[in-house]
Amino acid sequence: MTKQRIGIWIIGAWGGVSTTAAIGLLSLQKGLTGTSGLVSEHPYFEKLDLVGWDQVVIGGHEIRETSFVEAAKHFSETSGVFHPALLQAVEPELNEFDKNVKPGTLIHVGDTIRSLAGDSVKQYDQESLQDTLARLSADMTEFQKQHDLAHVVVVNLASTEPPVEESAKALSLAELKEQLASAETSPVPASALYAIAAMNAGCSHLNFTPSAGTDLPALIELAEEKQILHGGRDGKTGETLMKSVLAPMFAHRNLNVMSWVGHNIFGNLDGKVLDDPVNKSNKVHSKDHLLTEILGYKPQTLVSIEYIESMGDWKTAWDHIHFKGFLDTKMSLQFTWQGTDSVLAAPLVLDMVRFTEREWRRGNRSGVMTHLSSFFKSPMQATTPEFERQYQQLEEWANTVSEE
Ligand SMILES: NC(=O)c1ccc[n+]([C@@H]2O[C@H](COP(=O)([O-])OP(=O)(O)OC[C@H]3O[C@@H](n4cnc5c(N)ncnc54)[C@H](O)[C@@H]3O)[C@@H](O)[C@H]2O)c1
Repeated sequence: MTKQRIGIWIIGAWGGVSTTAAIGLLSLQKGLTGTSGLVSEHPYFEKLDLVGWDQVVIGGHEIRETSFVEAAKHFSETSGVFHPALLQAVEPELNEFDKNVKPGTLIHVGDTIRSLAGDSVKQYDQESLQDTLARLSADMTEFQKQHDLAHVVVVNLASTEPPVEESAKALSLAELKEQLASAETSPVPASALYAIAAMNAGCSHLNFTPSAGTDLPALIELAEEKQILHGGRDGKTGETLMKSVLAPMFAHRNLNVMSWVGHNIFGNLDGKVLDDPVNKSNKVHSKDHLLTEILGYKPQTLVSIEYIESMGDWKTAWDHIHFKGFLDTKMSLQFTWQGTDSVLAAPLVLDMVRFTEREWRRGNRSGVMTHLSSFFKSPMQATTPEFERQYQQLEEWANTVSEE
């Protein structure tokens, strides 16, 4: 099948990562930036014939009332990330993208996320669950038709929800379908509802957040039934990326890690939402579990995430790793990671969309894309937690695809 225009439908369209992805995409289209930070631009993947940047258009769902330009200006002012001249150069196209942004849903998002919502989305408070699903799906289909897109990849970049209720994890697909009759009986959070809407609209789905998304048994089943490609969850962009690279080193040298402490401070909107202990617990779990998986035992661990407003989008992670070497000698490694959260995340979103479109164009239209494991903190159905091995799986997939 030949390459055609594609769409990225972003849940949380006016958030930090999404806005950076939109500015990044337009800067690439206009030749205003280089390609560093983009995995899909690595020469290894040239053979894949990935979709061109100029073939991509953005739309999405939101709950706040703002715009790409307003969000970008706020970012520039608080974190100094985009050069004003760059912003000015892409402003007309960002305004066009705004026209593709529709009100989303607040079903089971928790109080902290609800407190961000504007009137455009609150007008749907009384809508039935079935109507919400139909509306969200129709928005995606309309976007595809209006822009004449061969395929749409839905990416969840919305604020992190509270952990999903245990009852939702236990649902079979048949039970889920029954419960979807009403929001009162359904424990399914917004992130999963968007995923169901995406599947109903025939879109692929990527979950860049720790929220449930498609990572529920019933949704995995639904994706198979509907022949949908999907992947998640929680983008691996900074501290956890370091963990998944460093922990194998300790394991392979048989150095016993006694404790691993990671303190994270940052001040963007994501940090503000994660300041709610309930929402935070979802993220902490996602950042913590892989050490045990890689090392084969559980060292004492502590992950802290603190909202420090003055930091804006600049995240600092300080990690202290206390380990034991030969003759039981105790030693330590410390590192400090300082990065712009959204600038680290946005290129990975663009990469994964391109890789997903390529898999879809290949004719494989169903199941979890395990070759994208290296992009996620908690990759679904991953066969290894180690970054290097996960990256090799991406290269192996690229080899297979290019030989077809
Ligand atoms: N490096 C990174 O930035 C990074 C890494 C891994 C994961 N993530 C995750 O990606 C997500 C986005 O991060 P961000 O920094 O852009 O956050 P953000 O707070 O800037 O953006 C989130 C956006 O989602 C919107 N939103 C919230 N609930 C919604 C809903 N139900 N429907 C539609 N929109 C909704 C918010 O209004 C906001 O605009 C977060 O969940 C974050 O934890 C980010």
